[in-house]
Amino acid sequence: MKNKKMAPIGGVFDSGVGGLTVAREISRQLPYENIVYFGGYARVPYGSKSQNTIIRFSEQIIRFLRTKQVKAIVIACNTASALALDAVKDEFDLPIIGVVIPGARAAVEATTNGKVGVVGTEATVQSGMYTKVIQGMNPKIEVIEKACPLFVPLVEEGFKEHIVTREIIEYYLESMRNTDIDAMILGCTHYPLLRSKIREYMGG
Ligand code: DGL
Repeated sequence: MKNKKMAPIGGVFDSGVGGLTVAREISRQLPYENIVYFGGYARVPYGSKSQNTIIRFSEQIIRFLRTKQVKAIVIACNTASALALDAVKDEFDLPIIGVVIPGARAAVEATTNGKVGVVGTEATVQSGMYTKVIQGMNPKIEVIEKACPLFVPLVEEGFKEHIVTREIIEYYLESMRNTDIDAMILGCTHYPLLRSKIREYMGG
């Protein structure tokens, strides 16, 4: 059978392999498009780096992906989406899409009491981008953000079932559990791998 796949649509990048989950979902929705995936493992983590550095890394990766003739670029990394998307989207003449807006939209649709929790890297939380985008969609929504920097190394070490994981989840999320948020954004590519543990702790 003839290969129906066309020239690559894009253009998906992350600081590591976590963004492959985003690439897989794009492939599921657009099965006839090819995807070029870039995982910047040599420079991970992005979550503890400055905005200037994250913008520079993002520009370099986008330039590289452009040499692969991609039609569009998806920034699968939450940190790069939060800190670099605004800077790079007007710099290049192709569509560049981040993950903050879709995640924020899903939470805005999911909450019934108007209280949303967001967890992410230090850089993502410090940027306040999720709060800004959520409240841009609905200013009445209260957003509680919390950086959970140890979640990334826990996932990388394969510690999902390890006893320390439960303790670290409690350490970061105890104060959030004492609020009445009814929707939570796992605003980092690694965190969905801890979803069941986080859900168990938060009682969702
Ligand atoms: N990919 C990053 C994110 O989604 C997490 C890992 C890192 O800090 O680089 O925010």
